[in-house]
Amino acid sequence: MSGGPSGKKAEQGQQPSILVVDDDLRMRQLLGETLAGEGFAPQFCGDSREAANILAGQAVDIVITDLMMPHFDGIEILGKAKAANPDCMVILITGYGTIESAVEAIRKGAYDYIQKPFEPDALLLIVARAVEHVRLLRENRRLRRQVAGCRGEELIGTSRQMEELKDFIARIAPFDATVLIQGETGTGKELVARLIHDWSSRRQRNFLPINCGALPETLLESELFGHVQGAFTGAEQDRPGLFEAVDKGTLFLDEINATSPGFQVKLLRVLQEGTFFKVGGREPCRVDVRVVAASNTSLAEEVKVGHFRRDLLYRLNVVTVDIPPLRQHQEDIPLLAHYFLARYGAKYGKEAKTISKESLARLRGHSWPGNVRELQNVLERAVIVSDAPELLPEHLPPLDVDRGSYDGGEARLFSVAEMEKELIAKTLRNTGGHRGRTAEMLGISPASLWRKIKKYGLG
Ligand SMILES: Nc1ncnc2c1ncn2[C@@H]1O[C@H](COP(=O)(O)OP(=O)(O)OP(=O)(O)O)[C@@H](O)[C@H]1O
Ligand SMILES: [Mg+2]
Repeated sequence: MSGGPSGKKAEQGQQPSILVVDDDLRMRQLLGETLAGEGFAPQFCGDSREAANILAGQAVDIVITDLMMPHFDGIEILGKAKAANPDCMVILITGYGTIESAVEAIRKGAYDYIQKPFEPDALLLIVARAVEHVRLLRENRRLRRQVAGCRGEELIGTSRQMEELKDFIARIAPFDATVLIQGETGTGKELVARLIHDWSSRRQRNFLPINCGALPETLLESELFGHVQGAFTGAEQDRPGLFEAVDKGTLFLDEINATSPGFQVKLLRVLQEGTFFKVGGREPCRVDVRVVAASNTSLAEEVKVGHFRRDLLYRLNVVTVDIPPLRQHQEDIPLLAHYFLARYGAKYGKEAKTISKESLARLRGHSWPGNVRELQNVLERAVIVSDAPELLPEHLPPLDVDRGSYDGGEARLFSVAEMEKELIAKTLRNTGGHRGRTAEMLGISPASLWRKIKKYGLG
């Protein structure tokens, strides 16, 4: 009955509830002292029938029970505990010569067993592991409940940074102002652009994304502005562009940083005057389009190095939304991981998984240069490769923790070569892999950048 009213009760308490069942008073005393020494406050029961009543009436997290008892034996107590709470961890105490029963108990779902006589520390070790397990189950359940309340397209995250981001988007979305979204690759720029559209009065109209970096200048222009008949070879009739197609809606100009100076001038005109010319056309066309642009580099920096027009930046950044990289809101990693686990579990028809403590530690220890998209890919892969109910470290690809390149916040000395490699990798990421700009930003020649990329295996 996990999740039922009694299940919830056990979940709310900080300490897991422990029930000790043994008909031997001396054993109960020994267990009581051992557990009390570690701060646990178990319930005790000398009669197995009374234990069965307790188990039927309240959700118990951990049961420590003797195997041989009058009335109900340990295996029967195990059955009753599991029936009342499938997540209950049952630890059996077995006497000499009852190992076979203990093995049977494990097969029936007991968590572990310990053989008499035992060292208190040996028992405490098992109990500590069970407590950890209970804590993890609760955490998983809590996160899964949170995820279950999420709709499809949503910004997941409860960190201060994410809450502030959501508030900010909700505040600016209803106004028709042009928005510039900045953030590293994979931080959710397109997702944010869609939310801005969905939360605006244009939501009934189209949202059209176009990747400005993927098209050469002339093609981008005719895509956006359309062309008139005879504008160029092959232009056999007038063709409307995306600006017209999206009239009254939102146009998302992705990778605006990668556009050419010529295109930037034309875009500036649309933003300033609300009009544009089709390629080869003489009549200005008027449209009502909200522009949301995104850049994975800082446009202010691009302006400084002469790659972006200052006046266009001023037109675009009426409102700027900066999305933080995932490493700056690491506390969202568990929730995001569960969200993607549920999403891909449903997509691939696999049972919802829990995430082991070790796996979570690994996910938290990674620096996520590819941000949320990288995390999403890692979890999609994990769902595909594993059929186990628990996500284990072996289902994850090698992460920073394995390479030891992420300091995890601890002071660590780097060699000059290591730092150079890091710096080049980071600059390449920030320029979206643009080697010319990377060389320029680092103040080295393109040839020497090329050599270093080879040397460090970054290409
Ligand atoms: N906070 C978040 N919650 C849920 N999903 C997210 C979040 N951030 C990003 N994603 C998901 O991660 C993926 C990458 O996001 P998106 O495409 O919006 O990134 P981007 O910033 O546009 O990246 P790029 O610069 O590489 O184009 C998408 O599938 C998106 O839905
Ligand atoms: Mg994008």
